[in-house]
Amino acid sequence: MTSRFPDAGFIRADDVLQERLRPAEARRLDLQYGNEELLYGLDLLGLAGPFYRVNPWELEDEAGVRRINASGYAAMPFGEMPPVLTEFMRDFLEKNRAMGLPQQSSGPWRAALGANLVRLLARELPSHADSQVFFCSSGTEAIEGAMKFAKAWRPKAKYFISFSSGYHGKTYGSLSLTPNPEYQDIFRPLVPGALTSPYGNLEALQALIRRLGPDNVVAVVVEPIQGEGGVNIPPAGFLSGLGSYCRKHGIVVIADEIQTGLGRTGHWFESAAQGLDPDIVTLAKPLGGGMTAVGATIVRQPIYKKMLGGLSSKRHSNTFGGGALAMAVGLRSLEYLMDNDFPARSLALGEQGLARLQALQRRFPKLFEAVRGQGMLFAMQFQPMVGLPLPSVLKELVFEATAILALREMHEAKVMANLSLSSKRVVRLSPALDMPQATFTEMFDRIERFAQRNPSSRHILTNTPPAMTAQLAAFAASKPKKRTG
Ligand SMILES: Cc1ncc(COP(=O)(O)O)c(C=O)c1O
Repeated sequence: MTSRFPDAGFIRADDVLQERLRPAEARRLDLQYGNEELLYGLDLLGLAGPFYRVNPWELEDEAGVRRINASGYAAMPFGEMPPVLTEFMRDFLEKNRAMGLPQQSSGPWRAALGANLVRLLARELPSHADSQVFFCSSGTEAIEGAMKFAKAWRPKAKYFISFSSGYHGKTYGSLSLTPNPEYQDIFRPLVPGALTSPYGNLEALQALIRRLGPDNVVAVVVEPIQGEGGVNIPPAGFLSGLGSYCRKHGIVVIADEIQTGLGRTGHWFESAAQGLDPDIVTLAKPLGGGMTAVGATIVRQPIYKKMLGGLSSKRHSNTFGGGALAMAVGLRSLEYLMDNDFPARSLALGEQGLARLQALQRRFPKLFEAVRGQGMLFAMQFQPMVGLPLPSVLKELVFEATAILALREMHEAKVMANLSLSSKRVVRLSPALDMPQATFTEMFDRIERFAQRNPSSRHILTNTPPAMTAQLAAFAASKPKKRTG
């Protein structure tokens, strides 16, 4: 059928499916109608895409250049459109009769996924045997739910404590717990009573709680390993100490496992692996298998009932949480993770990968300031580019741009990675947990070639085409403006 609105330039779904919407045109439209400044900056560096699937672990660009994909911000546990899920989804679309958005009625897919999640958590932390789940459609929404559960449990208390370099999302509540001035400043005042304590420092946390008075603290919200913060692993004893201190004072502990959970760091729940038994666990990213949007807030029963008890059971709700397709894909994803014990594989491959990075750091100390990793979550922190004959304003820019220029050089070396945006000079890898061994090894071979080409941080700059650096500098110095159309 042809469009009934031929003159309005409407694009038909089939045009996209059949790739008649050419990549350059898609990029132009995305710039024009979407987040133009972000895509423009990435486009200058050749990182804007669109990218297309070759297989679950490799993507290609419009020129047909193939790259191993270790990006996806830890939300792609089985890579791009994994057959295990696409086949299941075909089956689901053919056979499922349960309603799409059960909302206030019972839904078999939501029921099954809720039961499995609680049973899985209780296997690691038996005190969660009777916990309950609230489903939503993103990580930030899972955190919003967690904050409300905690506040309803301790209505007289007024402080939430999160940690330096932490990341919990960008809606108002979660943003208030994400102490990054770039994200927060223009939106002040934020949720009142959101305070920050230094990550990994138990004494500082205890001192802060003592100063506030423990009864005044609603909750402590913690990532068991910080992802956006640059893969920061807290010192041994931090999480378990935090847990016992908060328990003693009745303070709710919220473990944000949105990035770490379900195997990414080599454990089902990183908090449990580090000896923490949180009251609330948030999950999202991998739960939707990289195909659907699923978030979950798992809550101890009394806390759950306090907010959603009796006539107040509609105090917190949403339209899409618990939708059949999302829950079904979540159920199959979790099953696939369990059937193959991917957390164990992640732990083993993670050791290999970290050893490769550590060897590279020893060989190229002028390139890598630090490397970190736990399971299939890796960070490369680059040395500052020192001694450059540049005016100080440009030096600052180059300093800030180290990670993004490194990302581009890695892209040239045919590895797609991510930044860690609440950290400095960090590029992060979060490959699929089921990436074949040969692809995984090849990925580190390519990173080695990247390091050979850039034996020091300065090389990252000198290897960037000067015209590109100049365009980037001009872009960074310019005011937002319409760049397309
Ligand atoms: C630890 C953590 N919490 C929360 C979020 C927010 O998740 P979303 O982007 O789905 O809102 C993220 C996303 O990166 C995260 O890493």
